[in-house]
Amino acid sequence: MKIEISSNNPLEYATPALVVGCFEDQKDQLFAGCDAALGGCLGRLAETREFTGKTGTTHLLHTLGKLPAERLLLVGLGKKDDLTRERLRQAAGYAMQALRGTRCASFASALHLASALPGAQESVTAGSLLGSYSFDLYKTKEIEQRFSFDAMTLLVPGQEPEQARTTAEQAEKLCRGVFLARDLVSHPGNVVTPGYLAQAAREMAARNGMEYRVYEQEELESLGMNALLGVGKGAAEPPRLIVVSYQGEGAKGRPVVLVGKGITFDSGGISIKPGPGMEEMKTDMAGAAAVLGTLEAAALLRLPVNLVGIVPTAENMPDGKAFKPGDVLTSLSGTTIEITNTDAEGRLILCDALHFAQKFKPAAMIDLATLTGACVVALGHEATGLLGNDQRLADALKKAGEETGERLWQLPLWDEYGEGMKSDIADLKNSGSRDGGTIKAAWFLKQFVGETRWAHLDIAGTAWSDKARPCSPKGATGVGVRLLIEYLRQK
Ligand code: BES
Ligand code: MN
Ligand code: ZN
Repeated sequence: MKIEISSNNPLEYATPALVVGCFEDQKDQLFAGCDAALGGCLGRLAETREFTGKTGTTHLLHTLGKLPAERLLLVGLGKKDDLTRERLRQAAGYAMQALRGTRCASFASALHLASALPGAQESVTAGSLLGSYSFDLYKTKEIEQRFSFDAMTLLVPGQEPEQARTTAEQAEKLCRGVFLARDLVSHPGNVVTPGYLAQAAREMAARNGMEYRVYEQEELESLGMNALLGVGKGAAEPPRLIVVSYQGEGAKGRPVVLVGKGITFDSGGISIKPGPGMEEMKTDMAGAAAVLGTLEAAALLRLPVNLVGIVPTAENMPDGKAFKPGDVLTSLSGTTIEITNTDAEGRLILCDALHFAQKFKPAAMIDLATLTGACVVALGHEATGLLGNDQRLADALKKAGEETGERLWQLPLWDEYGEGMKSDIADLKNSGSRDGGTIKAAWFLKQFVGETRWAHLDIAGTAWSDKARPCSPKGATGVGVRLLIEYLRQK
């Protein structure tokens, strides 16, 4: 969807549809103007309680020539004092879903004019773009019935269009990163393999002038990344370690290192998963997708930070050559790991990546992973699990989560949780009893981060949505990208 800017007055602007915000408890000037033009129709809608301005509601009406806009889409913003950027973003998303229903491919938005919040225009632009996303690359039938948005015109009456254009571009750049992440997660596992991820990272790095390196099987062997290699042993495609770096701060600044779990399909391996729902395990590379999307957005936005993105990637498959329960792997750090469940593979590929990451002397290290089903049990689909060893980093991430609506909920990471992770034969085992599963997985990771300030984000419940949300259709959410960009902006 293209974004255009116009400094026209919404009441004088011809468009297939005009989007206008509406509070529950207060009617602003634009709303009053629309109401007057329509002969008091909007006031009537409020009296009959057909449309009151509650959040999550919209109301579409035809103007029948009483306004230059053919249709008026009212969008509820709730109570004026409760308005936040997230609420505005969601309202923009709800508007997109309503416009999609009426197949209005081009429209104009005046939604941001309802708010004096700083960043209102960026929130509306981002919410509209995020809500416009769809993924139908693999649909070959009924193409003419398919729908996609064409253009949105942001109305900024009395404002410098240049300033507004720059703001809109910021939102477009951010969303480009989110869409890269969503696309990578949406593609099926027979397309997005470790090799595909490496190629996608290479292209992303090339178009943004970033440094790129991929460690192939032989190099991983000579480095001693046996935990990553072990997980990949059952698959036809070899595992890889992808490293992409973005320098926005000059050579001297210590980087923030982002590590993303890149399991392109998780069958569970020899400890195979039950069949129903296994197809969702193509999304087990959502952490990797978030890291690549964040790097893309950071580069487009020219954020003044140094970043290193590290993606260990493999396919977890059962096979005669696959790793198996009882095996002992010597990880890159030298720590030996007894495999008690091949389905606890994420922590294995991450432990080598987290140890490897320390050579970049990170200012902070954040990993993202669809790591545990236990996190979905604990937090459902509304929050990402947050654990770590540095409260300041955790607090900064939480704040970014509130700001972006990609909310985080912190779990404890006390030493006692590690007691069940000791092996009789090796230093550690890769899985313990099911209780506290998210924490035990994070405790395992913690053994490999040394003294580095570190946070772990378990996105198992938030990377994929079974239901449509205002700013994200059913499927891949791209979670992590907006969160991390917000964190990096505030850092
Ligand atoms: N990729 C899964 C976790 C997952 C589950 C992600 C549901 C998204 C939705 C992970 O590799 C896994 O299988 N974890 C096991 C760990 C257990 C064997 C200790 C789990 O959660 O059951
Ligand atoms: Mn698994
Ligand atoms: Zn997994």
